[in-house]
Amino acid sequence: MKICILTGAGISAESGIKTFRDTDGRWNEYDVTDVATPEGFYKNPKLVLDFYNHRRKEVADARPNKAHYALAALQHNENFDVTLITQNVDDLHEKAGSKKVLHMHGSLHESICRKCGDITTANEVMQTHDICDDCYHSALRPNIVWFGEFPYHMEVIDDALRSCDIFVAIGTSGTVYPAAGFVKTAKKKARAHTVEINLHPSDNKYMFTETMSGVATEMVPAFVEKLLSGEYDYLKSC
Ligand code: OAD
Repeated sequence: MKICILTGAGISAESGIKTFRDTDGRWNEYDVTDVATPEGFYKNPKLVLDFYNHRRKEVADARPNKAHYALAALQHNENFDVTLITQNVDDLHEKAGSKKVLHMHGSLHESICRKCGDITTANEVMQTHDICDDCYHSALRPNIVWFGEFPYHMEVIDDALRSCDIFVAIGTSGTVYPAAGFVKTAKKKARAHTVEINLHPSDNKYMFTETMSGVATEMVPAFVEKLLSGEYDYLKSC
């Protein structure tokens, strides 16, 4: 069975990583244009680097939760062909043992050179004068996809969406495109069964055929259990 899973900040919330748009979310503390746009970086690179340095430290101390582990176990089950897409820039899926994760919004643990495009492991604390190992220019930035930039892995993701039996969105508010449009592609192009797992209904909740409301650490293992027990076997494509 082919399953396409999209995760958002809500899956890491119980690992102590803040979401963006909940009442205590990051976008209540920071202006998104200051820290998550190329313009913000040109205006105040130190502020932006400090924002991501802080998040990198937070993630280094964080541990995966039951939801991350349940998805990793599903990926390792040979009866399921799982494409795991995340909007998260943390590495909690990998820490839980997920073998392949499509980080469409980049990674906190990588830097990219604005001059030559070289992607490498980010310093724990990135500084404005850091130098690219490849072209020796002082042009490094976090390898994070900012607003107005094109997400990673879109071709692979589109193929997976168009051929999946089940599409699942976990812990995402459905406000940021293109990720918010994945449910529509899976539904229209693959006639997939669509499941939303979320604490609060997302902006595109009407696109989902099934909703599981609650925290990820309870709902995701419950969903995986339903899959393993064969509850969705009738959806299997040939
Ligand atoms: P949001 O902060 O927009 O949404 C988080 C979602 O998680 C909400 O729907 C919450 O109800 C839900 N949630 C919170 N706690 C939860 C829990 N314990 N269990 C299950 N669900 C929970 O985060 P995203 O949708 O991931 O992009 O945000 C998308 C993008 O916007 C991010 O990748 C980031 C941000 O700006 C960039 O920075 C480029």
